[in-house]
Amino acid sequence: MIAALTGTPGTGKTSVCTAIRESPEFSIQYRIIDLNELVFSDGLHTGKDDVRDSYAVDIGKLENKVKQETSLIPAGVDIIMEGHLSHFLPADIVIVLRAEPREIMERLGKRNYSTGKTRENADAEALDVILVESVEMCGNVFEINTTGKSPQDVAICVVSIIESVKNGKNPEEFLPGNVNWIEQAGL
Ligand SMILES: Nc1ncnc2c1ncn2[C@@H]1O[C@H](COP(=O)(O)OP(=O)(O)OP(=O)(O)O)[C@@H](O)[C@H]1O
Ligand SMILES: [Mg+2]
Repeated sequence: MIAALTGTPGTGKTSVCTAIRESPEFSIQYRIIDLNELVFSDGLHTGKDDVRDSYAVDIGKLENKVKQETSLIPAGVDIIMEGHLSHFLPADIVIVLRAEPREIMERLGKRNYSTGKTRENADAEALDVILVESVEMCGNVFEINTTGKSPQDVAICVVSIIESVKNGKNPEEFLPGNVNWIEQAGL
């Protein structure tokens, strides 16, 4: 099973993957592919977009690199591709992490992101941008409201979604539509 773990920057994807790696139980069953790390270690971008203060990733090259990496992973080990572009790569399921837009503002503000970049991400979260992109890319999408949950709690949700789907179930509490930030849209 290949799962794409995506979400607006600051929703906690890397933190959840750290929790999975550090769990003696989960670290055996799951292998994490950190897409941001691959993009920078292998130069899979086309340079910096100064206006948006971000790097334009070459998705085709990233897809090829991920294919190479996944071919080295033993069969039976589940793969989690982690990154805010992971939903653009082929995957069996997409899991979108969600966090309150106010929380995103706070977290990205602490990272020294510019006010514009912080607000752009909080607005994208409020408007479900990544969820909508994910649903357009994949028929098997789930979302987790991480608000008030620790990265370890969210890791348990991620694993439970993957295991449910592997067992032919459709975990209803994580289906798209369960998270709604509309009352916060006027941030
Ligand atoms: N469940 C959580 N509860 C509280 N704080 C969290 C949680 N998850 C992450 N954080 C904090 O939020 C910040 C962003 O987390 P993280 O780097 O994991 O996000 P990300 O989704 O990987 O972002 P990016 O897409 O930019 O890589 C970090 O400071 C982290 O400590
Ligand atoms: Mg990250």
